[in-house]
This record gives sequence, structure tokens and C-alpha cells, in this order.
Amino acid sequence: MAQRHTIGIVGTGTMGQGLAQTAAQSGYAVVFQNRRQESVDRGLEAIRKNLERLVSKQKLTETEMSDTLERIRGVVPIEELKGCERVIECAPEDLELKRDLLQKIDAIVSDEAIIATNTSSLSITKLASYLRRPAHFVGLHFFNPVPLMKLVEVVRGMRTSDSTVAAVRGLAESFGKVPIDVKDSPGFVVNRVLFPMINEAAFTLQQGVASPEAIDECMKLGCNHPLGPLALADLVGLDVVFAILESLYREYGEPRYAPCLEIKKRVEAGWLGRKSGRGFYNYEA
Ligand SMILES: NC(=O)c1ccc[n+]([C@@H]2O[C@H](COP(=O)([O-])OP(=O)(O)OC[C@H]3O[C@@H](n4cnc5c(N)ncnc54)[C@H](O)[C@@H]3O)[C@@H](O)[C@H]2O)c1
Repeated sequence: MAQRHTIGIVGTGTMGQGLAQTAAQSGYAVVFQNRRQESVDRGLEAIRKNLERLVSKQKLTETEMSDTLERIRGVVPIEELKGCERVIECAPEDLELKRDLLQKIDAIVSDEAIIATNTSSLSITKLASYLRRPAHFVGLHFFNPVPLMKLVEVVRGMRTSDSTVAAVRGLAESFGKVPIDVKDSPGFVVNRVLFPMINEAAFTLQQGVASPEAIDECMKLGCNHPLGPLALADLVGLDVVFAILESLYREYGEPRYAPCLEIKKRVEAGWLGRKSGRGFYNYEA
């Protein structure tokens, strides 16, 4: 596969790992950055394990795996992003943290470079206002796990240029993804539709309409969803579900987004879903 230009991935957690792997498998040279070496190493190790799994399932050859790993360069100093024509920021969902990081990236990369953020909920227009070239800034909302999920919501801020949007649509397509343009509005499309559905499932449980198992079975068999909404909430993490609903509620000011107590009380109890062993379901047994 021909070597393409260089992609910077900032943040080496869940999304950063998935993106670095996807970009490298698509033939790009990747600069994989975190401020701590151990986080970089952990990220690289997770990517290696993921690729090994693909090799064992015969979805990837040993050579493709080693070529992919060779294309990913783990780094700590942020200055290493200097030569990257595209940078995708995948740091935690915190406005001040992203502001600081994006300003640093903006100061390092060339004037032609495009900076994208993978934020799930922050305003692209607001983040762009912190940068010296807001026209070159855009939201690219990938989904977890990145190597498997086809969708990328392309979020255009008020000052994002047409050429930036066209360039990142091309980038997403070269990753084998389907880019869909969405307006810069809280929750974009997927989270805005999905999380109220999860909330409604929690209200349905609260009102004793059916058990968690029955609610999930209804949505699987009646709507052909691969997973019921309550099982999905447990997978995402109830703390994350709660935070997303609260942010939709805050941004739109509409009661329909207010998180159901069935979610809030579980979060208070530390029942966060699969990761804590208990949520709507008990995974301890
Ligand atoms: N997890 C998901 O399902 C999902 C889906 C779509 C979008 N997102 C968004 O993607 C972004 C990242 O989410 P995630 O789930 O990968 O989070 P995560 O916590 O798994 O990873 C965040 C990474 O950023 C690193 N980091 C923290 N401060 C940093 C700094 N100053 N410089 C460089 N790296 C730093 C952390 O060490 C970690 O590696 C968030 O904006 C989130 O909203 C997440």
C-alpha cells in the first residue's frame, strides 16, 4: 500500500488507539502522542493485541500487522506533531484541557494543516474560536470501536471552510468510513437520538411496564436492534450515559433530556454497568 501523508493522533486511550490503528491500516504514517510515556506504551500494546487478534482470525497477515505497527510512532513531546498534515485530537472530554491542547497543536503544525477533534459533546464553533485558523478546524466524531464502526459525523463549526470539510470527508473515506455532515449542535445526530431512547427505556422500567430483560428483548425483536437499550447503557457506562443526558438537558433546556432517576441512583450507588460489575444487570455472578 502506498505511504500517504502523516496523521497526528493526540491521546492514546480508547478512541486514540482505534484511530491510530485504523489510520495505519489504511496506509498512513501515524504520530501517536500522549504526555506520558507509559500511556503511549499502553496504547501501542493495546493496538498490537488488537492486530494479533485479527491475525489469529486470519483477517490480517503477519506482514500486514508488522507494516501497520511500523507506521505508528509513539511520542511524548507534542512538538513531534510538527510534520503532521492532519491531527485528530482524542483527549478527555474537558473544555479547558482541549483548549490548552488544541492551542499547542495549532502553534506547532503548518498553516495548511487541518486540526480535528473527536469530541462527543463540546461546541466545534467554540473550540475553533481558541485557534488562530478556525477555518482549518472541524469535528470528526468517530464511534467505538473505531476499526469496526462505519460512521463518522463530520461536524462543521460556523467558521469551518468548505475545503476543510472536503479534505476530512476524503480522509474518513480513505479509512473505509462513511462521513455524514451534521450541524454543530449538542449530541450531533447519533447521541441526540440514542441517549433519549436509553432514558425512555429507564423510565419504562421505573413505571413497571416490564423488566430490564423484557424491555431489551422487546427492542431487539421488535426493532431489530442488536442490543437492548439497558444492556447498551451498561456497556457504555451509566456515568457516561448520565453525563451525556445532563449535557443535552443543559444545552437544550428541555425536560425530555433530564436523566431518569433509575440512571442517577445507580450512578450514586457506584453501579456503573459492566465496568463496575453491576448496572441495570448484575455481572458479578
Ligand atoms: N469512548 C467512546 O466511546 C467515544 C466515542 C466517540 C467520541 N469519544 C470522544 O473521544 C475523546 C476521547 O475519548 P476516549 O474514550 O478515548 O477517552 P480515554 O480516557 O480513553 O482517552 C483519553 C486519552 O487522552 C490522554 N490525555 C489526557 N490528557 C492529555 C494531554 N494533555 N495530552 C495528550 N493526551 C492526554 C489520556 O492519557 C488518554 O490516553 C473524548 O472527547 C470523547 O468524548 C469517545
